Amino acid sequence: MNSKQQVTVLMVCLGNICRSPTAHGVFESLIAQQDLDSHILVDSAGTAAYHIGNPPDERSVVAARSRGYELSHLRARQVQPEDFYQFDYILAMDKENLRNLRKVQPQDASAQVRMFLEFGQTTVSEVPDPYYGGTAGFEQVLDLVENASTGLLMHIRKEWQL
Ligand code: 4NP
Repeated sequence: MNSKQQVTVLMVCLGNICRSPTAHGVFESLIAQQDLDSHILVDSAGTAAYHIGNPPDERSVVAARSRGYELSHLRARQVQPEDFYQFDYILAMDKENLRNLRKVQPQDASAQVRMFLEFGQTTVSEVPDPYYGGTAGFEQVLDLVENASTGLLMHIRKEWQL
């Protein structure tokens, strides 16, 4: 069992404007609901640099808002080598994100680099990229992210005795 001041989680997708900001906002909201704000820190980043500094995609913002999550204050950034030492968990939305993370992961990284949906209770292993599709894709992202966020929080509470 582990115990330390703050558990840190980095949600990662390709652009950091659709899936990972959604996971960031949903997981942060769950943490707040359970009064764990001071114990768990969440951030998000993209493996690509295309959207650095941009707010989340408006379609993600609108879909999330309809379920009570606010994402509009978030800004995209790219994964940095330091992240592999600063975060306990670096969670990829799809297998391509995981492969890209492994390419830049320093050999002595302390973070656990895993698939986010490992913590979900569905048979789906990846959060599909909704960027080039319609609104249903953004709803599916939210469904998968809400499911895995619940599982991730249960895992962290048990593992870190919170
Ligand atoms: P995300 O979605 O990885 O969930 O943020 C995408 C955002 C932008 C692009 C692709 C996926 N893009 O090609 O610009």
